[in-house]
Amino acid sequence: MSVERTLSILKPDVIAKNVVGQVIARIESAGLKVIAARMTHLTQAEAEGFYAVHRERPFFGDLVKFMISGPVVVMTLEGENAVATYRDIMGATDPKKAAAGTIRADFADSIDENAVHGSDSLENAANEIAYFFRSIELCPRTR
Ligand code: PPS
Repeated sequence: MSVERTLSILKPDVIAKNVVGQVIARIESAGLKVIAARMTHLTQAEAEGFYAVHRERPFFGDLVKFMISGPVVVMTLEGENAVATYRDIMGATDPKKAAAGTIRADFADSIDENAVHGSDSLENAANEIAYFFRSIELCPRTR
């Protein structure tokens, strides 16, 4: 077990449903700590840049359109095995396939509007955190 950091995005559907606090409660209950957080309305260029690795995929345009449809909350999470722990509580990409009790099973309506993003590897987590936060904005917990 090791302490890791991962990037979380609460997508526009979570903000529209006014369940930001409920989703963060799931994160905290899993033992993960928020060490940076910001609400922002992404520009098209910011969303395209963040998802650049997916630009050839058929859903890229819809994904970007959704991610700029309203504000999001971007957060850096820290904790034991943070990348896998957060992916576990998020649930599968398609909420219809997400395990009961996961964030996507409980808060997402469709694969297009699936509530949350979480980094899928430690390497991507470092890059994604740096995309949104300067190192001085990360506040590691000492207690
Ligand atoms: S994942 O989560 O990266 O393993 O899933 P992947 O299938 O590679 O999907 C990459 C991101 O695209 C989103 N996605 C979609 N958006 C819109 N429509 C469709 N059909 C769709 N399928 C996948 C998926 O949620 C991933 O975005 P993030 O923000 O990481 O959740």
